[in-house]
Amino acid sequence: MSRLIINCNKKGGKINKEIYGHFSEHLGRCIYGGIYVGENSEIPNVKGMRSDVVEALKKIKLPVLRWPGGCFADEYHWMDGIGAKEKRKKMINTHWGGVVEDNSFGTHEFLEFCEQVGCEPYINGNLGSGTVREMSEWVEYMTFGGLSPMSGLREANGRKEPWKVKYFAVGNENWGCGGNMRPEYYADEYRRYQTYLRNYGDNKLYKIACGPNDFNFNWTKVLMENAKNHMDGLSLHYYTIPNNWAKKGSATDFTEEYFYMTLKKALQMDYLIKEHSRIMDNYDPEKKVALIVDEWGTWYDVEPDTNPGFLYQQNTMRDALVAAVTLNIFNGHCDRVKMANIAQMVNVLQAVILTEGSKMILTPTYHVFDMYKEHQDAVLLESYVEAQNVGTNDDLVPDLHVSASENENGTVHITLANLSAYSTREIDMEILGKDASKIDARVLTGKMDAFNNFADGEAENVKPQVFSGIKKSGENYSFTIPACAVMSITLG
Ligand code: AHR
Repeated sequence: MSRLIINCNKKGGKINKEIYGHFSEHLGRCIYGGIYVGENSEIPNVKGMRSDVVEALKKIKLPVLRWPGGCFADEYHWMDGIGAKEKRKKMINTHWGGVVEDNSFGTHEFLEFCEQVGCEPYINGNLGSGTVREMSEWVEYMTFGGLSPMSGLREANGRKEPWKVKYFAVGNENWGCGGNMRPEYYADEYRRYQTYLRNYGDNKLYKIACGPNDFNFNWTKVLMENAKNHMDGLSLHYYTIPNNWAKKGSATDFTEEYFYMTLKKALQMDYLIKEHSRIMDNYDPEKKVALIVDEWGTWYDVEPDTNPGFLYQQNTMRDALVAAVTLNIFNGHCDRVKMANIAQMVNVLQAVILTEGSKMILTPTYHVFDMYKEHQDAVLLESYVEAQNVGTNDDLVPDLHVSASENENGTVHITLANLSAYSTREIDMEILGKDASKIDARVLTGKMDAFNNFADGEAENVKPQVFSGIKKSGENYSFTIPACAVMSITLG
């Protein structure tokens, strides 16, 4: 029997809803086919945006979407993607598969998509190969309401009113695909570019500097030392890659060793956030600068017979567990982590949605976002669970992982994962400081390699079920969490 304690008397910070954000890049079938099919498509759409995808994203309350990259961002010239579509420049997407990018999805289309979904746009500017003027004019084009060359151009392209764009990043991975810069050089470049990103009217930009890749603590130090007063957020990228790049393995055909190896790697997110935050604390003890984890997720071999540059992978219960522990970790660090964006939303890496022509399936990771959505903008509660180590060889992980929050109506939401591939666990749950009149629970469970597929009858192999096994025993509650499972419990 494991003790699970939720302390409603000990509250933490607010869990920003943007922690549940997503990322969409011009990569493979994320944009084209995944969210945008064009107005003349037979696939039901509104202004070219797939209606099935929009509806699915509304259901999980997608709060914010990052675009257009990734590595693509530092090769993207936004003016190529505005105006009459037939006149838009065609270019080669050199990073991702060498395919032709016809720019039919550009600024207007992205902001239209965000409006349909009801999420905040997060635009990533081009520092690596773009100019200061280009970046500055993009902001003017999108957000200036008065008379100016860029607002005039916007109006000529069919949009009179400016959009509201809050989140804006100045370059992506500038230590790598965004220009191979040293942190000292990037910090200076960042300071220069961001100077010309203006707040027009009541549109106040939230500026995000390119931060480190996983364990590059020096990058964080140099950026904080030299540019902290010019940024609202610093990004962090961390991918869960089992074993190593060459042996990351299949998304669906993997051993128990790979299962635990993946979970252990995912749990490293906690260490990374702690260490980067510790460095940030030295320069910013009041935590004015946020850590923005704007790329995270699993990265495996692509599916057989697919373009290696398209990064298309399936998604199993293993991914659901990675999402569950990662989101629990973000909740736990909500004092510093203000936004996170899973890579990527549709058809790329740890996608929540996969499409094939007119068909769409929701992955196990999608269901985790659905079960966790009640945490959005709620207040973190202290939680503790007694865990045992499970795993293989050197890859041991705690079997249970928890997070809890309380929303403005006093509803408590608990998310609990059982990382054991095969063992159920009995739980004795104690809720301090709340007399619940109602308790509801859902569970997502299956074999570690279970996944949803396009074949007939396989789209819902993995989906959340109502869980009615919670019993009141004295002051506490008891239940058995299945093996390889994610649970959400709501106490009203
Ligand atoms: O998400 C795929 C790629 O991973 C992004 O383009 C890049 O930023 C990262 O290296």
